[in-house]
Amino acid sequence: MKRKVTKAIFPVAGMGTRFLPATKSVPKEIMTLVDRPLIQYAIDEARAAGIKEFIFVTSRGKGALEDYFDHSPVLEEELRRKGKDDLLEVLETTNMDSGAIAYIRQHKALGLGHAVWCARRLIASDEPFAVILPDDVIAADRPCLQQMVEAYAETGGNMVAAMEVAPEKASSYGVLDVADDMGSMVKVQGMVEKPKAGEAPSNLAVIGRYILSPTVLKNLNKIKRGAGGEIQLTDAIAKEIDSKRGVYGYRFRGQRFDCGSKSGFLQATVAFGLDREDLRDDLSAYLHDVVNMGKAAE
Ligand code: G1P
Repeated sequence: MKRKVTKAIFPVAGMGTRFLPATKSVPKEIMTLVDRPLIQYAIDEARAAGIKEFIFVTSRGKGALEDYFDHSPVLEEELRRKGKDDLLEVLETTNMDSGAIAYIRQHKALGLGHAVWCARRLIASDEPFAVILPDDVIAADRPCLQQMVEAYAETGGNMVAAMEVAPEKASSYGVLDVADDMGSMVKVQGMVEKPKAGEAPSNLAVIGRYILSPTVLKNLNKIKRGAGGEIQLTDAIAKEIDSKRGVYGYRFRGQRFDCGSKSGFLQATVAFGLDREDLRDDLSAYLHDVVNMGKAAE
């Protein structure tokens, strides 16, 4: 029987230089979409998929993340005293059981593969695990990782979230070489991290959700630096292609926002704002006005 996926690694060590000056003192993952930090979206998605243990790979200056997931007795007491039960309920989603969350430091910025490798001692040698990149925020009726866990129950092996991208954008991603296209699932025969322009094997890109065999952690021990001089997770997964486990791409149903870019972050803010009943009317009236003003000026 395939083992259940109950652990997820969240690589959150990046400096977030694209969001300076904000990220000078605020970790990128604490930046807020409407009223919840990016990391909360990732945690909610993981919980919906059955994840029970959360492993954060952090770096210097990420202390706010630890505080965020800690209980806040003074604040909670104050809200209780004022009878603000709705806000207490909101706070509850940020609390973690003791021992459910672990923090590991990545001491050198050697890439995504290296960040995941830093967590190797927390994953058993027969235990599949998930990786979630919180920059990739995915709006979906059924959370993306949950869709993948269900598909993984059929396939086992290794699975990456996949999405068609414009050919000129492919060099920003890990890209799949597809052996067999079964619709929502593809069997992978090659993976290239950040291919040069015109050299991508397809326009099916890897998005930041993975379910991996623990062998990938062993592969990370062996691989050399890849694209950008970094230890790449994509290269360690590609080593699994010829194993009996294999690698699958999963075309998730949902809309992905690249919250590692300013434009993606703004788009996500608008989309999540419009999704909220308490904000929808005001925000869409404002957006109409802005669009109409633009038209009038043309
Ligand atoms: C990482 C992965 C890449 C993947 C991307 C998705 O790249 O290395 O394979 O396509 O996330 O967001 P990064 O965006 O960290 O450069």
